[in-house]
Amino acid sequence: MNLDQHARLDQLDPDGMIERIGELPQHCRSAWALTQELELPPAYGAVRHVVVLGMGGSAIGGALLRGLVAGECDIPITVVRGYTLPQFVQGPEHLVIGCSYSGNTEETLSAFGEALGRGVRALAVTTGGALAALADEKGLPLLRFDYRSQPRAALGYSFTLLLGLFSRLGLVRDYAAELHAAVRVMEQWQAEIGPQVPRAQNAAKSLATRLVDRLPVAYGAGVLAAVANRWKTQFNENSKHWAFFEVLPELNHNSVVGLGIPGGVRDRISVLALRSSLDDPRVRVRWDVTQELLGREGVAVETLWGRGDSALAHMLSLIHFGDYVSFYLAMLNGVDPTPVETIAFLKRRLAEASTA
Ligand code: F6R
Repeated sequence: MNLDQHARLDQLDPDGMIERIGELPQHCRSAWALTQELELPPAYGAVRHVVVLGMGGSAIGGALLRGLVAGECDIPITVVRGYTLPQFVQGPEHLVIGCSYSGNTEETLSAFGEALGRGVRALAVTTGGALAALADEKGLPLLRFDYRSQPRAALGYSFTLLLGLFSRLGLVRDYAAELHAAVRVMEQWQAEIGPQVPRAQNAAKSLATRLVDRLPVAYGAGVLAAVANRWKTQFNENSKHWAFFEVLPELNHNSVVGLGIPGGVRDRISVLALRSSLDDPRVRVRWDVTQELLGREGVAVETLWGRGDSALAHMLSLIHFGDYVSFYLAMLNGVDPTPVETIAFLKRRLAEASTA
């Protein structure tokens, strides 16, 4: 497969995942604008805890937000990926945000339903489905966006809508200028890694080529921990490829002991070190020692640095770069990046099981 053969790429990507990836910077701008128009009850800004509910491509926005604002937001943010809410989430001091692209994901609907029975403040972020209907019925604030894609391709919305919401509620500072600067950084990098740029000059195409038949394991620290998670899931869903992620410094307390065995696996792993110049100084030392340990075992390492001059720019630029890599790897794997038939199969089987 030649990544510079555009006709072949079009053939393998009939639903245009490459266009969806190309639109990511613009989604961030549109999502930000949407949050500026939303009417919010003032009491929502007085909460003492925020819970973000979601699964898969609709949960990652909450995880990214938590990583980004943890150092400045003086209330805790919990991301729940499952059916049930923690028992302590009771009463109006808690804001529960149900995030589901389709609005029909059963885990999210279940936890959101529990929340409504517990007197919390609630809000929905969705394109429609049962979640939008529930929000309408209960008169809850609803951040509805209209973008036809796979949920994971709507990350510009699922993340930026939450960031804008937090800014509007005064839970974090106003990120407008930082967001727009980060979007420009994405667009500048995009000009170097888009499909029109030949492989010889295209770092995303080259990296994808080196990942063929290998197991990518993304490493990230701090704000890039959730970005490593995003890389893993994009390899899974776009490239239909096994992948994992690990978080620093935690991986220094376990994974480093098992880098050598089994040899057959070790020899097929590529560690993707997602780095930020803003990493904590002690974490920087850990990166150096970790790379030394990986080198000692002969494990291949690829280092990717976030671009721009803010944590937000580092996050978004690396997400965008990783999305392109996952697309090119899909092409090299000879698969259509858009459908996720296995997830649809699971959802169908679950629906049958609940009616049996
Ligand atoms: C598919 C994808 C999935 C979905 C997940 C939840 O592109 O990313 O991980 O996000 O199955 O579905 P929604 O987002 O509709 O709640």
